[in-house]
Amino acid sequence: MPRIKIAPSILSADLSEVNKEIKEVEKYADLIHVDIMDGIFVPPTTVDAEFVKTIKTKVPLDAHLMVHEPSLSYLKSFIDAGAYSITIHEEACKNPAKQLEFIRRSKIKSAVSIKPKTPLEKIKKYLGMVDMVLVMTVEPGWAGQKFISEAMQKVRELRKLKPNLDIEVDGGINPYTARIAFDEGANVFVAGTSIFGKKDRVAAIKEIMDALK
Ligand code: DX5
Ligand code: ZN
Repeated sequence: MPRIKIAPSILSADLSEVNKEIKEVEKYADLIHVDIMDGIFVPPTTVDAEFVKTIKTKVPLDAHLMVHEPSLSYLKSFIDAGAYSITIHEEACKNPAKQLEFIRRSKIKSAVSIKPKTPLEKIKKYLGMVDMVLVMTVEPGWAGQKFISEAMQKVRELRKLKPNLDIEVDGGINPYTARIAFDEGANVFVAGTSIFGKKDRVAAIKEIMDALK
């Protein structure tokens, strides 16, 4: 299995002081997860590429686009803003291959995500063009929801199919659920509330890491 990566999600951080918030977790984070919501694919609206540009960190930025039919120029704005990886949603795109190929050609990491009710079948044809698959463990749109364990079946099947692929889980991840997902084959763990919801963020990350030992 590929290396374990912890990706604090800044959705639960104080975005008016995002660089200060990131500084706190920087040493212990493998990725910084940035949730982009468009108000169409999911009801809320969050940050845009202009905001991403203001993030100053050496930690790679993992942009999770909950965006309906992102255009190639829209994707480019995140690449120019410094994204290390871009995740698009299978359900949001008519032909996800178009976006995935563009991301790949731009020499950054590409990923596709599926919501809890979307079967793995839907993305099997894209597995050759992605560096990572994000299996959502809550309905996308909000932090602080409960982990949906039914998604674990997809993680298990995907790990069997792709022993070296990065498999990311996002939603309701805490030390306990991270361990469940890890045992099924996930290796990239997004956590918002269970890190930024705590006073001591470093201790919160360490708790997740300890649960994966
Ligand atoms: C939800 C977002 C998540 C969110 C997770 O749609 O994709 O990244 O920040 O938050 P928690 O960890 O609180 O479930
Ligand atoms: Zn996310």
